[in-house]
Amino acid sequence: MTDEQLILENRRGAVSVLTINRPDKRNALNGALRCALLGALDTAGRDSTVRVVVLTGAGDKAFVAGADIAEFEGRTPVDQFRVMTQPSVYDALERLSKPVIAAINGFCLGGGMELALACDIRIASTSARFGQPEVNLGIIPGGGGTQRLPRVVGLGAACRMILTGDMIDAAEALRLRLVEEVVAAHELLNRAVAIAETIAAKSPVAVSAAKEATRAALSLPLEEGLKLERALFQLCFASEDKVEGVRAFLDKRTPTFPGR
Ligand code: COA
Repeated sequence: MTDEQLILENRRGAVSVLTINRPDKRNALNGALRCALLGALDTAGRDSTVRVVVLTGAGDKAFVAGADIAEFEGRTPVDQFRVMTQPSVYDALERLSKPVIAAINGFCLGGGMELALACDIRIASTSARFGQPEVNLGIIPGGGGTQRLPRVVGLGAACRMILTGDMIDAAEALRLRLVEEVVAAHELLNRAVAIAETIAAKSPVAVSAAKEATRAALSLPLEEGLKLERALFQLCFASEDKVEGVRAFLDKRTPTFPGR
């Protein structure tokens, strides 16, 4: 299978739907798949006609069932060091200047959870199952799970998942606010794309700045975060989008944002 086929790209207007396509292995992340996903995210980032990305898994069983466990066998710490000093898909998702919505359609485990956690919004189907099962393999999450999961669901809920390795269902994920919405499987992609289209209709400059400022809330002290927010707010005043957005409101019409 070529790298292109490991990630399918389907455009729906300004929304790029990226499908992780290794369903026979429950979309487990191997080296080639990570590379293909990095390439697809880079392309989406550079393409000004793409305003929002939706990330999902192929088939009806899994979003992503984690790292490819077969690749772990026989791997030395030096091999693993080399792998982990490559560009990270988790960082790429978080740093993408466009929002990414995870449409979680089944097993969302290990590295799959970590991918979902690096996305900006998570929508799940009722059949989704979530877990950080690394302790079952004698390892720990290595794609940001120990850091991002507690920031999303709190320390206790994160410890319960990471230390027991137990899976939770979609209803429990919603209760923990690990996901924003749960919908029937047949509605999942349309719902994720609908949210993406709402965002895609806004000012791209403002959306990028808003993503950066809001994400910084999880990593910066309050004073620093507020400083960043002010700087990005002021930056928006340099954009044609701001001129258009304000003028359109005053003219009582729908804005057409140039994205500059
Ligand atoms: N890495 C490599 N292969 C994986 C995989 C993973 N993380 N998850 C699933 N697969 C493979 C299975 O080995 C199997 O391959 P085979 O058909 O060649 O034997 C195929 O995907 C289907 O998996 P199977 O276990 O038969 O499907 P299932 O629907 O009964 O169970 C899971 C699905 C996800 C619950 C189960 O596969 C599983 O527990 N996977 C590992 C999850 C994990 O520990 N992830 C964290 C890794 S750090």
